Amino acid sequence: MKALEQDIRKELDSLQDAGTYKRFNVLSSPQGPVVEMAGRGEVIVLSSNNYLGLAAHPAVIEAGIEGLRTYGAGTASVRFICGTFAPHLELERELAELSETEAALSYVSCWNANEAAIPTLADAQTVIVSDELNHASIIDAVRLSKPERKLVYKHSDMGELRDALGSCEKGQRKLILTDGVFSMEGDLAKLPDILELAREHDAIVLVDDSHGVGVVGETGRGVVEHFGVLGQVDVLTGTLGKALGGAAGGYVASTEEVCDLLQQRSRPQLFSNALPPTVACSALAAVRVLRAEPERVARLHENTRWFRAALREAGFDPLPGEAAIIPIIVGETARAIELSQKLLERGVFVTGFGYPVVPEGTARIRVQMSAALEPVHLERALEVFVEVGRESGLLT
Ligand SMILES: Cc1ncc(COP(=O)(O)O)c(C=O)c1O
Repeated sequence: MKALEQDIRKELDSLQDAGTYKRFNVLSSPQGPVVEMAGRGEVIVLSSNNYLGLAAHPAVIEAGIEGLRTYGAGTASVRFICGTFAPHLELERELAELSETEAALSYVSCWNANEAAIPTLADAQTVIVSDELNHASIIDAVRLSKPERKLVYKHSDMGELRDALGSCEKGQRKLILTDGVFSMEGDLAKLPDILELAREHDAIVLVDDSHGVGVVGETGRGVVEHFGVLGQVDVLTGTLGKALGGAAGGYVASTEEVCDLLQQRSRPQLFSNALPPTVACSALAAVRVLRAEPERVARLHENTRWFRAALREAGFDPLPGEAAIIPIIVGETARAIELSQKLLERGVFVTGFGYPVVPEGTARIRVQMSAALEPVHLERALEVFVEVGRESGLLT
């Protein structure tokens, strides 16, 4: 065996030994409250980003099929050459309306959107100030940026954020970066405080609300709606791969000038094919369903409230939060993986997360709610949680 393969084999073996090696579960039905999983049959899903149940919504599917017929398989081009299709513009208009911003610009993922927006907005005089628990795509986007300084503040610690901003020079561009809903904790950014500090220090705020849009706020417009600050965040980024249809894609919503600059300068926009029109069509249909059917958001809120309370009553200690992510901390990574395996053996699909996704010793099983889940699914899932919790010693 070549040296490279030998080194890789050692690394893979160490993942196996630590019990952290990931195996893929293969699905053969659409994403939904129950899916068909290879080798297991039907399982209840408490682990997808299909927050509103739109991944298999007939209007979303039909829009994609129609888009495929009308525009073909893809763009075969980046946006600025010949890859801009009518549905891109329509989608961007509706995303801007949803976000209450002047404009929006789509990308093939929110990962791309963050890697586009952050390095483009951080010029050589900028200070970037970022929450320590921000999503990996923000962390990598910061790595790609070349600002004057990069500062990281303790998670949601407004004192540290104030000190970081206070250490900047007057007139210097300051870019605060935060998740709207933190993906591993399920808690919300302290957005009103962040906005107040930003005003005091003349800083720009970028919020990635991938887990908030479609989920948080009375009508699902995200953390900006939840906190009553629609239209007040300078730059929003979000995904089309979660509540908004679950296919793929991301976007930046901001001013005309910011979106125009990103079209001119951001590298994922300039050097990578545009979002396939079929995906844009599906996402557009998903945005329309969200706006026309706010009762889906209400159902998601009700499911989340019910399941969180039921877990507590059963003796679990989920982290508090207002989003649809309900993490239960279990300690070591191998334990989280073992628990999720036991849940799956009994037909409930919940993912365990450990190091390096979350810090060592804080491994967790992360429940994600969906409006598509019916009481019968939630009640069965709870029964299984209690059985597995007792068996593994998590519940006494
Ligand atoms: C906060 C946050 N930002 C960005 C992303 C990446 O989104 P996408 O799948 O569209 O690249 C995720 C996905 O997990 C996320 O949780």
